[in-house]
Amino acid sequence: MSEIRAPILSVDHVGVRFGGLVAIADLHFDVHPGEIVSLIGPNGAGKTTAFNVMTGFLKPSQGQVRFRGTGLQGLQPHEIVRLGLSRTFQRTSVFPDDTVFDNVMIGLHRRGRTRLVDTLLGRDRAGEAALRDRARELLDWVGLSGRSQDKAGSLAYGEQRLVGVALALATEPAMLLLDEPVSGMNASETQVFVRLIRSIRERGVTVLLVEHDMPMVMEVSDRIVVLNYGRLIAEGPPAAIRSDPTVIEAYLGQGSAAREAAQAARETNDA
Ligand SMILES: Nc1ncnc2c1ncn2[C@@H]1O[C@H](COP(=O)(O)OP(=O)(O)OP(=O)(O)O)[C@@H](O)[C@H]1O
Ligand SMILES: [Mg+2]
Repeated sequence: MSEIRAPILSVDHVGVRFGGLVAIADLHFDVHPGEIVSLIGPNGAGKTTAFNVMTGFLKPSQGQVRFRGTGLQGLQPHEIVRLGLSRTFQRTSVFPDDTVFDNVMIGLHRRGRTRLVDTLLGRDRAGEAALRDRARELLDWVGLSGRSQDKAGSLAYGEQRLVGVALALATEPAMLLLDEPVSGMNASETQVFVRLIRSIRERGVTVLLVEHDMPMVMEVSDRIVVLNYGRLIAEGPPAAIRSDPTVIEAYLGQGSAAREAAQAARETNDA
C-alpha cells in the first residue's frame, strides 16, 4: 500500500567521507509516510552519520536527501526541523538541575514564537498558559507525567531519553528519527517505549529508528534497512532480515553484544 505513495524521505545515493574513511558509501533507500523503519548495523556502520546527514548536521560528500519532495542540501538543522523532520540524539542532554517540566518548557521556548523574556516578565500570560498545557500534554504522551516535578538529573538514563523524545515531538514533526532510544532501558521500559513508538505512528508521524536491541527492532518495525561498514547490505521486512545470512554474518563478525543481539533475534523468531 505504501509503495504507491510518494516517499516522505528519500536517501539518494548518499556518501560520507571523513578524510580517508568512508563512513557511508552510496546509501540509497526510501521511507514511506506512516511507516516504522529501522536502520540497523554493527557499531560504526554509519547509522548516526546517516541521521546527521538527514538532519543537516553533516554535509554528504555525494548524493542528497529529500524530505517531502524538498532537497535538504544547504539547509540548516533548524530549517529541516521546520520542514517537519525532527530527531533525538544518541547521547541525551538534559539540564540536570531543572525539573523535567522545566526542561520541556525550556525546549518549547527555544523553538517557539513566545519570547522567554515576555513570559518571565508576565507579559504573555496566555502564551505561557498554552505552553504549560503543551508541556503537560507532551510529558503525558511520553509517560513522564509522574516525574514532571523531579530534577531531570534524578531520572534514570532511559527516562532522560524520554525527555529528548518529548522535545522532538514538541516540534510537531511529520517524521521522527530516533537514535538508540531504548539504550539504558530495561525490558519493561523498552516495552513501554514500543507502545510509545506505535502511538507516535498512530498520530500520523513516520518513524525511522536506529537501535541495537534486535528483539525490539523486530517487534516494532515494518521494514528494516541494514548497514555494514557504510554499505547497505539488506532491506526488507523483519521476517526476511532475521533469516538473511548476510545480516547474521555481519552481526556475528562483531563483538559479543552484537552476537547476543543476533541470537536474541533468532530466539524471537523461533518463539
Ligand atoms: N565526525 C567524525 N569524524 C571522523 N570520523 C567519524 C565522525 N563521525 C563518525 N565517524 C566514523 O564514521 C564511522 C561511522 O560512525 P557512526 O557514528 O555513524 O556509526 P554508528 O553506526 O552510529 O555506530 P554506533 O552503533 O556505535 O552508534 C565510524 O567509523 C566513526 O568512527
Ligand atoms: Mg550511532
